[in-house]
Amino acid sequence: MIFLLESSLRNFRKVGVFFWLPASIGILGCGETDPGKMSPEERLTYAERIYRRDCAACHGEQGDGQGPEAYRLQTKPLAFTSGHFKFKSTTSGQLPLDDDIFRSIAEGVPTTSMLPQAHLSDGEIRALVDYVKRFYPEFDSVSRARAVAVPTSPPRTDELLQLGKEMYERAGCVKCHGSDGHGDGPAADSLRDYSGRPVDIPDLTYQPRKIGTDLEDLYRIIQTGMSGTPMPSYQGVFTEKQAWALVYYLDSIAVNKWPRGMMGLVEEEVIGMRIDMRAAHALMMRRRGMGRMMDRGMVRERRKER
Ligand code: HEC
Ligand code: HEC
Repeated sequence: MIFLLESSLRNFRKVGVFFWLPASIGILGCGETDPGKMSPEERLTYAERIYRRDCAACHGEQGDGQGPEAYRLQTKPLAFTSGHFKFKSTTSGQLPLDDDIFRSIAEGVPTTSMLPQAHLSDGEIRALVDYVKRFYPEFDSVSRARAVAVPTSPPRTDELLQLGKEMYERAGCVKCHGSDGHGDGPAADSLRDYSGRPVDIPDLTYQPRKIGTDLEDLYRIIQTGMSGTPMPSYQGVFTEKQAWALVYYLDSIAVNKWPRGMMGLVEEEVIGMRIDMRAAHALMMRRRGMGRMMDRGMVRERRKER
């Protein structure tokens, strides 16, 4: 562990940021200011400053996903102006809840350059949630969306696993994700996102997933789909039993771990750390295995500890 920390510090020295970082962190957003106690205008200005400092490099000053560093990234940052949030608990076509946006910021998106924003306080993240919603004015006008319900899971049996495998084939998941989940289905090469960009289909045999590590995360995504991507919503398609069967099947095939390189991180996460040095620094200070920390489950555990 000490070796990990040291080698990562060395790396930061190499890029010449190690020395100014801790000092600059103190200036703004070290968790001592509580935006919850500010007037609405003050809170907005404060959030804007954090956004420009910590988010605009990737998501763009105008929230259009065209930040100056976006070209380096394999998975592109969301254009908040599109309203197509992928990670949410609401049904297809609905905007995310504040809690969904909060979670993406606090826990990041594993295996991508979107790091857990470990240097921000909960109050600062809440102020940022309101700030990014302003890029998509319909957040104000549409009626409040609600989270889809995730019913209690039935016991995991061989019979359910078998049913899940059948569902996976019958419901057409194979078209995109491939018969073994490797992302090599017949439709895979032709898929595009809302902006016409080709999409990467995840290999479902790998952990952690972007959507999270819990069985509930899997149940949810089958209901919600992923807005702006070809991943459809299957709400109303499966019975509760069939949906859970599918969840157990997906869980059973997730046997591989992402190949991890420097500091135990996936390559795209390393690029994220080079760009987003405040978050990287805060994560490093936690002195635990970096790679494990990037998994959503782990970050959540840590948040509960506090
Ligand atoms: C190093 C680049 C980078 C930085 C810095 C960054 N992000 Fe991201 N962010 C991404 C990428 C890439 C994704 C998309 C992940 C995906 O689609 O799989 C993302 C996704 C998100 C999402 C989830 C969107 C969805 O589809 O549901 C939110 C919310 C978000 N970012 C907010 C922020 C905020 C707020 C900040 C600043 C505190 C920030 N990000 C900083 C790269 C970055
Ligand atoms: C038309 C193509 C298509 C079909 C059909 C499809 N998916 Fe997907 N799925 C995708 C794409 C594309 C993504 C990734 C979106 C992104 O991250 O940008 C995805 C993402 C996922 C994820 C999230 C993986 C992660 O890394 O977090 C899961 C789980 C998943 N799909 C399961 C399923 C299941 C189960 C079915 C069938 C019931 C299914 N998909 C049907 C295209 C499809």
